Amino acid sequence: MQIGVLFVCLGNICRSPMAEAIFRNLVKEKGMESQFDIDSAGTGDWHIGDGPHHGTVKKLAEHKISTQGMYSRQLKLEDYDRFDYIVCMDESNIKNALPMLGQQKSSKVFRLLDLIKDPKDVPDPYFTGDFEETYQLCLEGCKALLQKIELDRQIEKY
Ligand code: 4NP
Repeated sequence: MQIGVLFVCLGNICRSPMAEAIFRNLVKEKGMESQFDIDSAGTGDWHIGDGPHHGTVKKLAEHKISTQGMYSRQLKLEDYDRFDYIVCMDESNIKNALPMLGQQKSSKVFRLLDLIKDPKDVPDPYFTGDFEETYQLCLEGCKALLQKIELDRQIEKY
């Protein structure tokens, strides 16, 4: 069974594609691709079918990370069963995502930066314009997420 990881934001063009591409890259560096099912989605429907925002594409390209083949999609009910970790960028994403997933609350659904020392939202660069901040926060969060998953899996083995 693959480990399902879904990143969620509002538009699925800035933050969640950034986190998806960074996480995919971290997993690839560890040679663990075959063990993971990784995707991202938005709670909003404005950008369905669009590629990532040019700010996200440019920032990832600076780090030699490709966004080829990535297109925005909306979160759907079936995502709840497909994914083990539903990782939201901010508190409003959680509030919007839970009913779309048919849930009132769930330990599967949490914020990416709940995993770091100073828990917080990933600010939305669609409004702030600061894609460097997004990159750095997503990288920190994704490293912590991979560590958490490795720990969760180790615990499950015993
Ligand atoms: P994201 O940013 O949630 O990080 O993808 C946004 C992208 C588009 C919009 C809002 C946020 N929008 O309103 O179209």
